[in-house]
Amino acid sequence: MSKETKDKPEEMASFFDLRAAGYEDHMQETINSFTQYYATVAVPIPHTTEPISVLDLGCGTGLELRWIFAQAPNAKLTCVDVSENMLKVLQRTYRERCDQIRLIQDSYVRWPFGQDQYDYVVSVMTMHHFVSEDKVALYKKIRQALKPGGQYIEGDYVVSPEKERELLETYWQLCGDDQADEGLYHVDVPCSLEVQKQLFETAGFQHFYVLFEEGEHFIYVVK
Ligand SMILES: C[S@@+](CC[C@H](N)C(=O)[O-])C[C@H]1O[C@@H](n2cnc3c(N)ncnc32)[C@H](O)[C@@H]1O
Repeated sequence: MSKETKDKPEEMASFFDLRAAGYEDHMQETINSFTQYYATVAVPIPHTTEPISVLDLGCGTGLELRWIFAQAPNAKLTCVDVSENMLKVLQRTYRERCDQIRLIQDSYVRWPFGQDQYDYVVSVMTMHHFVSEDKVALYKKIRQALKPGGQYIEGDYVVSPEKERELLETYWQLCGDDQADEGLYHVDVPCSLEVQKQLFETAGFQHFYVLFEEGEHFIYVVK
């Protein structure tokens, strides 16, 4: 595998800062069953009026929040994202719920999640920027942050093992060794379903099931 560094890809925060205004339209065009997809993210959360705690990693403009609030209108959300402009859109959309949403502008690689804090951790369309070792480290952090009995819901791309290898090769060529561990650059390295399952197992999750599947778009749940 060549690890020679070519021109650097765009940095993550500025990539999404530049695209925040058109982001939601872009996602509607990208995901065939867009509404069903985002609604399904919240399906594992039972209807409740309890102030359940939810951590959303890479929340972006908050597409999944609408559905989380539909299930749990009094939920307390902690939303982490590196992109200031994506968070600004979220803040505008959910201004009436500002007392329920804590916004953190930081990398969730750096930002500490704490221990036994959340009923649910959610991430949608963001983990495919990380190689396996970095994902396992994040999954361990997520597992620690969940309360006993809590669940992690992830929506992301899933690809064939062949495509996974090709994209990984490109990733190493673009990022080189030094940047490979921080998810600093916008490069897609999605996994196959088999690898994805193994990463969760390595991080200590015991139960895995697929909730949604359409083309390369998947939602799965672990606990
Ligand atoms: C494709 S968007 C997904 C946004 C939202 N979850 C959705 O599904 O619409 C990916 C988001 O992850 C954020 N992101 C990527 N890497 C991050 C990191 N290390 N820490 C925090 N946010 C990150 C980006 O800024 C971007 O807003």
